[in-house]
Amino acid sequence: MGENMTKVAIIGSTGQLGSDIFEVFGEKALPLSHDEIEVKDINSCIKVLKDVDVVINCAAYVKVDESENNPEAAFMINAIGARNVALVCNEKKMKNVYISTDFVFDGNKNKPYQEDDQPNPIDIYGLSKYAGEILTRNLSLPKKYYIIRSSSLYGEKGARGKGGNFVDWMIEKANNNEVIKVVDDIVMSPTYTKDAAEMVKNIIEKKLPYGIYHVVNQGHCSWFEFAKKIFRFLDIDANLFPIKSDELNRKAKRPKFSALGSAKLNSFGLKMRNWEDALKDYLREKYLNRKEVI
Ligand SMILES: NC(=O)c1ccc[n+]([C@@H]2O[C@H](COP(=O)([O-])OP(=O)(O)OC[C@H]3O[C@@H](n4cnc5c(N)ncnc54)[C@H](OP(=O)(O)O)[C@@H]3O)[C@@H](O)[C@H]2O)c1
Repeated sequence: MGENMTKVAIIGSTGQLGSDIFEVFGEKALPLSHDEIEVKDINSCIKVLKDVDVVINCAAYVKVDESENNPEAAFMINAIGARNVALVCNEKKMKNVYISTDFVFDGNKNKPYQEDDQPNPIDIYGLSKYAGEILTRNLSLPKKYYIIRSSSLYGEKGARGKGGNFVDWMIEKANNNEVIKVVDDIVMSPTYTKDAAEMVKNIIEKKLPYGIYHVVNQGHCSWFEFAKKIFRFLDIDANLFPIKSDELNRKAKRPKFSALGSAKLNSFGLKMRNWEDALKDYLREKYLNRKEVI
């Protein structure tokens, strides 16, 4: 690593977002897989987190429905893990970056949530992440922290904790000629991890004021509209039908409208591109070998 570079440790570097963050930082990065660090264990954090300027914590328990039956797992990683990382960052004077989620909101606002809106999680996963945010905020003294909320991520690697991502699942189902039912009453901001990773780097390198930032591709849509766009861009004639979220009988409640707005980020002149352009790029890069898509 060059002498004057900001050195960055990435916890969860094998994950969907962590792997793209590792990629954008390149030689400035110290990638930390789950084999190398256990965020639940303060001693592991003390031993491994050192000799860097910034720690980016992408480790998470991301199984939303399973969290309802296993709140201990969600809280141990998303909250206690965040506490352990914050304590070590504070002790060793490293900046702490905690990746969070749109699921900290209840979904009742019906307009994009901005960085200064009040969280009110309605499921265990969202609650455990909000607890992680509070621990990050209150323990990363003297306030050297960023909480970066993103939403509905898709990236080259797929979420390890979920066994993939929505875009890849849609394409796989269509290739298998399955009847595909997708909810049209939940609205969010689909976000390409490559774009999110670039913005995380920007926030750190441009030394934006500490605090909360929303890092999502601009605009929003329902999951059904998102699926429709995937198939349109790939010119796939899928058996796609809208359903209501109640019909799925899922364990966890989900916010009905969790689109994020990035007013604070925008106020510093930083802007993410539109979700449809980001999706086109992802599909081009992963599925079309860089051929043009409409
Ligand atoms: N996926 C989404 O749609 C979404 C939406 C909004 C926000 N987020 C947030 O974005 C972040 C990254 O999510 P992602 O989609 O990249 O998930 P992911 O692919 O499952 O990545 C999580 C990473 O953390 C590692 N990890 C898990 N438990 C750990 C532990 N106890 N100690 C150390 N490392 C551990 C995992 O390694 P192993 O797999 O080897 O355990 C994996 O590398 C999370 O904070 C998540 O809450 C995700």
